[in-house]
Amino acid sequence: MDEKNRAGSVTFLQEIIHPISVARLVMEKTPHVMLSGDGALQFALENGFDRQNLLTEKAKQAWEEWKVKSQYKPVINLENHDTVGLLAMDRMGNIAGGCSTSGLAYKLHGRVGDSPIIGAGLFVDNEVGACVATGLGEMVMRTLSSFLVVELMRNGISPRQACEEAIRRIVKRNQDFRDFQVAVIAINKSGEYGAYAIQPGFSFAIHTQSGNELINSESHL
Ligand code: GLY
Repeated sequence: MDEKNRAGSVTFLQEIIHPISVARLVMEKTPHVMLSGDGALQFALENGFDRQNLLTEKAKQAWEEWKVKSQYKPVINLENHDTVGLLAMDRMGNIAGGCSTSGLAYKLHGRVGDSPIIGAGLFVDNEVGACVATGLGEMVMRTLSSFLVVELMRNGISPRQACEEAIRRIVKRNQDFRDFQVAVIAINKSGEYGAYAIQPGFSFAIHTQSGNELINSESHL
């Protein structure tokens, strides 16, 4: 999603190694925001992307082991996070953002997470700021976390406080919040940033002209 309020996403796209690049082309070359499944694959192939088997031996083995019980228990790794999210501001103060994920493991076929849903996994409003989310997508989609954080910042709340409020809403509505992770990162138009997570252990990286910094996010737990 860019500073001109343009957005592109792909969902349920299989066998393409860099789906975020396909999403960018959806934004730049089509009148649409989202392409899904076979249509997204066809669009990718027509635009020069190669189809390849992305299943590693290790992942295949883990899946074979999971199949023994086949439990659809959506627990996203608590000690780390699964999604890559990036918020960027240029020297003119324009903001853009992107995110990419393999999504939850061992899900029902066809399950789509929050990352490609504009307003859930990512939202940019160049007048206000931007937010990106990681963790259990169902929780993020149910509260439209990224849009919520941007709207809270529009009302004058700092990125850090807005992120905490978005996490607080998820915690309040889910008694089992100890069993999953959600984290959000935000930046506002002044370049202030913040993050908040349910579980400890979430970290985010800041890159400015003065260098790089890895910051441990505060968390509800
Ligand atoms: N946040 C990624 C997913 O839920 O699939």
